Amino acid sequence: MKLIKNGIILTAETEFEGDILVDGEVIRAVGRGLDGLADDIIDASGKYIFPGGVDEHTHFGSFGGRLFETTEAAAVGGTTTVVDFAPQDKGDSLGAAIEKHAARAAGVSCVDFGFHSMVMDMQADTADQLKELPEHGVSCVKMFMAYKGTPFYMEDASILKVMNESRRHGITMMVHAENPDMISFYTERLKAEGRLEPISHAFSRPPVTEEEAVRHAIVMARVAEAPLFIVHVSTRGAMEAIRDAYAGGQSVYGETCTHYLVLDTSFLALPDFEGAKYVCAPPLRTREHQQALWEGIDKGWLNAVSSDHCALAGGFETKKEGLGDFTKIPNGIPGVQNRISVLWSQGVAKGRISKQRFVDLIATAPAKNSGLAKKGQIAPGFDADFVIFDPGYRGIMTQKDNLEGIGYGAFEGFEMIGRPEQVFLRGMLIAENGRFTGRKGCGRRIFAKPYAAAYDHYRSEPL
Ligand code: URP
Ligand code: ZN
Ligand code: ZN
Repeated sequence: MKLIKNGIILTAETEFEGDILVDGEVIRAVGRGLDGLADDIIDASGKYIFPGGVDEHTHFGSFGGRLFETTEAAAVGGTTTVVDFAPQDKGDSLGAAIEKHAARAAGVSCVDFGFHSMVMDMQADTADQLKELPEHGVSCVKMFMAYKGTPFYMEDASILKVMNESRRHGITMMVHAENPDMISFYTERLKAEGRLEPISHAFSRPPVTEEEAVRHAIVMARVAEAPLFIVHVSTRGAMEAIRDAYAGGQSVYGETCTHYLVLDTSFLALPDFEGAKYVCAPPLRTREHQQALWEGIDKGWLNAVSSDHCALAGGFETKKEGLGDFTKIPNGIPGVQNRISVLWSQGVAKGRISKQRFVDLIATAPAKNSGLAKKGQIAPGFDADFVIFDPGYRGIMTQKDNLEGIGYGAFEGFEMIGRPEQVFLRGMLIAENGRFTGRKGCGRRIFAKPYAAAYDHYRSEPL
C-alpha cells in the first residue's frame, strides 16, 4: 500500500495535515499513524493535496473538438476525470450515441471519463429513451435553446417533453440557454452594417440574450416540475436568475467556465483575426460580469467551474472558416489543461475564493453534479485520485507546455502560482511537473448514478 505523508489535505469543507493510505486504486484511510500498513511512502511535506479535478463539461470530439488522445492535457493540469458530451448522429438513440462515443475514448483516454447525453436528433420517443440512460452510466442530458438552424436546437415543446420525463428517471436536465431569435435579430443588424469581425460574435449575443433564455429555461423547468442545471453561465443576470430561483425554492443550479472568469471581450478584439480564437457561446463578457461570476462561485450561487474545453481539431485554421463573417467562426475555447491552475492562481492566490471553495468548484461539486459516486473527494472508499500541489511554484502558462494539441492555448502568458507536482489517478502516478508520465489509454469509463446533485434538494412546483 502507498502512504502519502505530511501533506496539507484540502477538502471542500476543511484542511488539515495528514496522511492518505492508498490500497490499490482506492483510498483506504485518511489520518495519522498509518505508517505500519504502507510499503511505499511519498513525503508531501509543504505541499497541498486535493482531489483530482473533475471537469464536468468537455468536448473531446463534439463540436469539432480534438478527440481523447489529447486528454494528457487534462492529466498534467490536475484533472483526473472528464465528463464529456456524447454527440448524437441522426437516427441514433441517445444510448447508441453514448456507446459510439465511449468507443472513441476506450483505450485512448489518459484520464477517467464519463458522459453526458446531448440531444441532437429529437425523435418521437426521445423523452422515453431517458429511462435507458442509467444503464449507459449517464445521469445528465444537455439540450440547446441556441444554435437555431442546426441539429442542436430544440424548440420549447421538445424541451418541455424531455424535462417532464427526466424526473421519473433521475436524469438532470442541462440547458444551453441563449435566445436564438434575439441572436438572429442582432446578427442581421450587424451584417447589414458590415460589422463582420470576431468581436461582432459577442455583439450578436449580448447579455440579455443569455439572461432571457435562462429565465425562460427556469420557467420551463417549473412547468415540467424538473430540476435544472444551466451550463456555461457567463453573465451577472443569468447567475442572479439562478440564485433567485434557488432561493425561491426551485431546484436550479449552474456552472461557469474558466474563460468567463478571466478572459474579457477585449480578447475578441485582438488584431489579425486572433480574436477568433476566443469565440465561444455564450461569448466572453466584460469585467463587470467577471466580477459577478467570482462572487457567484464564492457564494455558491454557481456550484462548479468547468472548462467547456473545445479544442478545434484544425486549430486556428478551422477558426479561419469565419474570416470576413463572424457567424461562420466555429465556437470553442480550449482549457482543460489550465482550468485548475487558473482557478488557483486567479482565485485562491488572489484571495477571491477560499481553498475549500476551490476544491468544491473543481472536483467535489462537479462529481456530485454528474452522479460520480467515487470521484471528487479525498475520503475512504473514494478512488485514489489526487493532486500533490506545490504552492511555491511560479511560472507562466505557455504554448510550449500545452498538450491540448491545437497550436495555441487560451491562457497564454497567464501567471501560474503553484502547480500540480504529482497527479495520481486511481493510485497511479500519471503526471509530474507538467509532464504526462502515465500509460496512454489508462483512463477508465466511469458509470454515473441517476438522481445526482440537482435532485438533492429537489423542489419544484407547477406554476
Ligand atoms: O462555444 C462553445 N461553448 N462551444 C462548445 C459547445 C457548447 O455549446 O458548449
Ligand atoms: Zn453549450
Ligand atoms: Zn460546451
